[in-house]
Amino acid sequence: MRTAPAIALGVLVALGLPPAAVGQQGDAAAGKGVYERKCALCHGDQGDGQGPGAERLVPRPRDFTSGLFKVRTSANQTPSDRDLFDVITNGMPGTSMPGWSTLPEKDRWSLVAYVKTFAPERFKEPAKKLELPKEVGSSADSIERGREMFEAIECNKCHGTEGRGDGPSRPELKDEWGFPIAPANLTRRWTFRGGKSRTDIATRLAAGVLGTPMPAFLDSVEKPEDIWHLTNYIVSLGPEEPRTVSLVTVGAVSDDIPVDPDAELWKTQRPQDIVLAGQVIIEPRNFNLAIDLVTLRAVHNGRDIAFHLTWDDPTESKAEPDKKVFADVIALQFPPGSAPGEARPYFLMGDANDPVYLLRWEQGKGAAEVTAHGPDTLTPIAGSEVAAKAVYSHGQYRLVLKRALVAKDTARASFAPGVFTPVAFQAWDGGAGEAGAKMSLTTWYPLTLEEPRSNRRFVVPPLVAVLTFAAMVLIIRSANRRHHL
Ligand code: HEC
Ligand code: HEC
Repeated sequence: MRTAPAIALGVLVALGLPPAAVGQQGDAAAGKGVYERKCALCHGDQGDGQGPGAERLVPRPRDFTSGLFKVRTSANQTPSDRDLFDVITNGMPGTSMPGWSTLPEKDRWSLVAYVKTFAPERFKEPAKKLELPKEVGSSADSIERGREMFEAIECNKCHGTEGRGDGPSRPELKDEWGFPIAPANLTRRWTFRGGKSRTDIATRLAAGVLGTPMPAFLDSVEKPEDIWHLTNYIVSLGPEEPRTVSLVTVGAVSDDIPVDPDAELWKTQRPQDIVLAGQVIIEPRNFNLAIDLVTLRAVHNGRDIAFHLTWDDPTESKAEPDKKVFADVIALQFPPGSAPGEARPYFLMGDANDPVYLLRWEQGKGAAEVTAHGPDTLTPIAGSEVAAKAVYSHGQYRLVLKRALVAKDTARASFAPGVFTPVAFQAWDGGAGEAGAKMSLTTWYPLTLEEPRSNRRFVVPPLVAVLTFAAMVLIIRSANRRHHL
């Protein structure tokens, strides 16, 4: 739908005349047309956040009439035009607000101008530039100071002792619009609404996140540079990006494999991050999934195979059917048998004809081997062969599931080096009301086992081969030279 001003602008452009207001002085009238096509679905025609798509989204699309903006580099409540331009360009990680970098720059400036018209009062006062204290680089001392401040000014009340968003205040937190809001998981910078760079983080700490319980701290820290110590501490809590893999690798070790998830062995194994999505194919669908990432470490020793799983969940919950409370559950899914063919079972827990084999762990019950013919048809396999140990602490589960490499029957999966085995992952946060088909999941990943340790010494690594060859060339050359002397 084209509006009169947009058409007028189109005519100007067609005549080769420069439109009156472009560039950083966005044209609100032109912005209206783009807004109605690209933004109204979520933010509503009136800018009140009540678009037809809004109901289902967590967090909700912003109600622009409130004049509250989360991502500011200003010391007062008015965001600068540049702030709005940047947030429209980059989107808001961890939410459904997409980035619009594919729109022409001119359109983005026009959108800035148009969004401002929904809250004229807010923009009467111009943005005041926030001056960040002089930057302090990261060091062990700075991180330690940041950790102390994190407790002293009670960031942990909301964000939890280890920053995973599991603090005691979590259940009570609401945003300005009355919706529950979760404190950020500080170990996952890539989900920060305002970006993950050190400057982004320091700016959010200094200026706060308007419309949420996240306060501004520039005035409450002991010394201004504490903003940077806190930033350095947050950056130390997790990687910059998920360490995703497209091939799941099971490392080879020679010793016994510990089932204790906190044993030393696991610290030496490569973390492989697996991204999960909400199940939205069948009812009940899961549009706002709780568990979107599982970290896997896996090893075998020629006899046993073990999977070490780490995932964040702010609450530990066991099934309490009379209170309608569900359990936290995680499952690894494989095709049953030992030599999986081309045709893999349906990734969504198999179907009536083609079942899957699950290594399933449930809080309060422990591990089990299960045959599934779809999400609602689970049958435990008699005589479970799995050893398991789980630890829950500070908003995180760590679990080891250990089993014999070769299974005693074909209801179970067997594993061998050199064979690609499909694997898929599923997780349920019982505390968030997830159960049955309401889950997070992946499709099939290929999984491969490294050759057992004992065979390795027969394989000459390429680098050694090259060096050996180079050394031989040198010996022959010097021998030749001597010969010529
Ligand atoms: C799929 C839904 C969706 C669409 C489409 C969408 N947004 Fe958003 N937008 C959101 C959500 C959700 C938020 C709030 C996120 C939050 O509060 O953490 C948001 C927030 C914003 C904010 C507030 C930024 C801040 O600092 O608080 C602006 C500005 C914005 N959107 C502009 C736009 C513009 C302009 C368009 C069209 C080009 C657009 N959005 C399209 C979902 C959407
Ligand atoms: C009263 C509860 C509360 C306290 C105290 C609090 N936060 Fe937050 N914080 C939140 C909430 C809620 C969010 C999520 C905002 C959102 O999703 O839009 C958040 C978000 C953040 C973010 C992410 C910003 C972004 O761009 O999304 C960082 C970083 C952060 N907090 C750090 C801290 C630090 C450091 C402290 C202590 C100096 C602290 N918070 C104190 C509630 C709190």
